[in-house]
Amino acid sequence: MAELLDRFGRKHTYLRISVTDRCNLRCLYCMPEEGVQFMDQDRLLTYPQIVEVAESAVKLGIRKFRITGGEPLVRQGLDELIAGLSALPGVEDISLTTNGLLLKQQARKLKEAGLKRVNISLDTMDDVRFKFIARRGELNRVWEGIEAAAEAGLGPIKLNCVLLKGVNEDEIGRFLKLSMERPIHVRFIEYMPIGHDDAGWRSRYLPLSAVIEEAARLGFSLQREEGPQGSGPSENWRIAGGVGTFGLIHPVSDHFCQSCNRLRLTADGHLKPCLYWMDELSVKPALGSPEAMESLFLKAMDVKPENHEMAAVLAGTSLSHAPTERRMSQIGG
Ligand code: GTP
Ligand code: 5AD
Ligand code: SF4
Repeated sequence: MAELLDRFGRKHTYLRISVTDRCNLRCLYCMPEEGVQFMDQDRLLTYPQIVEVAESAVKLGIRKFRITGGEPLVRQGLDELIAGLSALPGVEDISLTTNGLLLKQQARKLKEAGLKRVNISLDTMDDVRFKFIARRGELNRVWEGIEAAAEAGLGPIKLNCVLLKGVNEDEIGRFLKLSMERPIHVRFIEYMPIGHDDAGWRSRYLPLSAVIEEAARLGFSLQREEGPQGSGPSENWRIAGGVGTFGLIHPVSDHFCQSCNRLRLTADGHLKPCLYWMDELSVKPALGSPEAMESLFLKAMDVKPENHEMAAVLAGTSLSHAPTERRMSQIGG
């Protein structure tokens, strides 16, 4: 069977599908406070078009889809897309990354449509700080979303916590304890320099060695874990005696590009071989032709770079070529 192998021998089985660049929050690591110029609605791929792209992807060995945004739940009728994706033969995992605000209303319906699990952003457990980081919304709605997802059986539930120096680093211990007390997987994530001025990013970037140091300071004994289902780029751990687990996603201090298995589809119909670089291929000319769509995926394999260069941004040295001009909200993480 045809498969998606790139020039470095990496096999691709995971497609991240962004369905919108809009969001009901303005998290400081993702979007500027004033927002960005949103894509015209008529430039977005329709759900049937996304399913068409996904069908070609499955023929080439993609087994896992993740729906992202912006905030995916702000796009109407997402259950229709999920039902379309789950009807494709060979799909093993359909998951969603969300800020959780609209999850309470939608969790059950999404589960019924075929969604298997959710990853929810939670960067702080403090109401006031939530307003500082997310600039809108309310923390208690995120907690309600987390509870609703658990009740609907959308697990294993993962919580994504982007660590920001001087903002939430003092909550590492709290998040570690959460992973001990509840059957959830807390993932600490290094802040990535995507769509940011470099100096602003450097001043907030925190390497995840801070998490291991804090665990040691608290006297926790850690054991490596296989990790829950999915386990994209995360290195997983359990605190001895803990009910849940935690993970470290450290693209800057120690990248995981050598085991990259993913491609991205943007809401406006571009296949992105890598999160970081400018290179992208429009799927729109290939719509209506499965052969053209499959060759486009194979082309993405030919142009996929070996790794990102976020460490060079940290060091202030030059990059080998142009990074993406998209914001994180226009890629979907
Ligand atoms: P699982 O399927 O549950 O393992 O999810 P995931 O970790 O692949 O997806 P999620 O959307 O929850 O992403 C978690 C964090 O990892 C986000 O900050 C993403 O931006 C980041 N991330 C995901 N894939 C990549 C990648 O290929 N490269 C880099 N550098 N970061 C990534
Ligand atoms: N660096 C690291 N993670 C980010 N995310 C959004 N922007 C960034 C960034 N600059 C995370 C969100 C969400 C996931 C899709 O990506 O917290 O959980
Ligand atoms: Fe893959 Fe690019 Fe992510 Fe590295 S940065 S893991 S090459 S998508």
